[in-house]
Amino acid sequence: MNYKEQLANLLSLPTGLDAQQISSLLEVPPDMTMGDFALPCFKLAKQMRKAPPAIAKQLYASFDKLPAWLERIEVAGGYLNFFLSRTQFACDILNQVSAKGEQYGSSDEGRGRNIVLDYSSINIAKPFHIGHLSTTVIGSALYKIFNFLGYHSIGVNHLGDWGTQFGKLISAYKRWGDHDTVEKGSIRALLDLYVRFHEEAEKNPSLEEEGRAWFKKIEDGDSEALSLFHWFKDLTLREVSKIYDILDVHFDSYAGESFYNDKMQPVIDELEAKGLLEESNGAKVVNLDAYDMPPCLILKSDGATLYATRDLACAFYRKRTYDFYKNLYVVAYQQNLHFKQLFKVIELMGYDWAKDMEHVAFGMVSMTDGTLSTRKGRVVFLEDVIAASIEKTKAIIEEKSPNLQDKEKTAQDIGVGALIYSTLSNSRIKDIVFDLDRILNFDGETGPYVQYTHARALSVLRKATSLPKVQPDYEVLTCPQAFAIIKLIAEFPQTIRRAAEKYEPFFITRHITSLAQAFNKFYYDIRILDDNAAATAARIALVDSAATVIRIGLNLLGIHAPERM
Ligand code: ARG
Repeated sequence: MNYKEQLANLLSLPTGLDAQQISSLLEVPPDMTMGDFALPCFKLAKQMRKAPPAIAKQLYASFDKLPAWLERIEVAGGYLNFFLSRTQFACDILNQVSAKGEQYGSSDEGRGRNIVLDYSSINIAKPFHIGHLSTTVIGSALYKIFNFLGYHSIGVNHLGDWGTQFGKLISAYKRWGDHDTVEKGSIRALLDLYVRFHEEAEKNPSLEEEGRAWFKKIEDGDSEALSLFHWFKDLTLREVSKIYDILDVHFDSYAGESFYNDKMQPVIDELEAKGLLEESNGAKVVNLDAYDMPPCLILKSDGATLYATRDLACAFYRKRTYDFYKNLYVVAYQQNLHFKQLFKVIELMGYDWAKDMEHVAFGMVSMTDGTLSTRKGRVVFLEDVIAASIEKTKAIIEEKSPNLQDKEKTAQDIGVGALIYSTLSNSRIKDIVFDLDRILNFDGETGPYVQYTHARALSVLRKATSLPKVQPDYEVLTCPQAFAIIKLIAEFPQTIRRAAEKYEPFFITRHITSLAQAFNKFYYDIRILDDNAAATAARIALVDSAATVIRIGLNLLGIHAPERM
């Protein structure tokens, strides 16, 4: 049952407002000692023509008998504070979790609405480096969160698979590459070729011309150029799919930049027809002076299209294909301007759905040994970081629980989980510095800590499976240790909604971390299994629900929850 609604119904008569209005006034106090709900009476002063404290007193007096679920009401200045019956509340919440199981906190509020999520969006023949972890992991979490709320998520990997760099790569391959080295070395071999091209081009500028010529051949459909281009693309996708498998990340579409080659002209024509294109040194641009932005470049002076031209065509394609409710771009904040321009141009073209597109920006990722740069090849491959994290986890497992079954799989779940957790443990926009020792610390605010707490709860449940089924005595859950858990479980659905609203998976990270902390406090302070069967049953129900909610949270973030650790 919904206490807020019930309370609103009760307050409707004495205030003379309808339950809906009351419900929108009711607040949840920041601190449990101030009650479970509060009515700020100053918001009623106008209708009731009284000072807030007087209103609070009057409303208080209007209750002569309280319903069973309401324990007491207190007047605090202009506020009326309501304290729920903890026993009843605990019983209700635990029953909700047990009824909904793994679906607790889910809803169908997004039914019929498509959310396009553009994430990971890697560049072909470029390293999948640690900087891509955020977009991949944030996007994948949002994908799950929206689906959980009944939306239909569409995950798009908008591949960077077009541009003169592919001509350069072909030129480098033709000069210094050989099939086997590239086939074996994959992205790393391609990167070596690319770096070599730039080094040699400094001495021999004519190489640049050769690179451009090869790219022209790709554009013109020359069969040799195209087959090399497709080979590079296949190699890259084959390699990154291994990483996506380990991260358990999926996409519904890999339509990238080259997919829009034949879809730009109509948009360019429309820009022209709407008088939005301007000449600027031979190039065609949309002037955005009036919005304090530099012009958005649509066509270069040689007629070539740009990243923005492709994104423009892409936005129209997505609107046509998915009729999106939101089209979200999970891309580093460095591309702020690009997306502001893109959205503005679509708005200027007269499409009100421009407002449904958003840039979900995030900060930089680096390792403790310094930031990364792709240019000079000093780059931290994500693959290496993942491998290192799993290796370190294995060592920890060997030390802590050498007899664990399924060590390989568990080490992967923990090592990968630690990386995901750490990526999702702060507001997106904050920069992240990875320190493997810190993120793998089982006692800190880390993925392993939360996973471990979950496994610990399951181990308590395993011990309890043989106990007889009796009616639980929920009274024992009114103690602060247990009730803190109940509250966090009760607030979890709201947290999921807020995470979706703000595109901030870290709300969920924070919530399940608090839940894990509350659980551990309970675990250390209170004896769970004792001689009192009814009390034990209630505590077990609590442990079960806490484990379920932690697991749901981890899964929404894309983190596996091993049963034993
Ligand atoms: N490939 C781009 C990059 O690595 C990101 C693409 C983002 N998506 C988009 N539709 N522009 O910077």
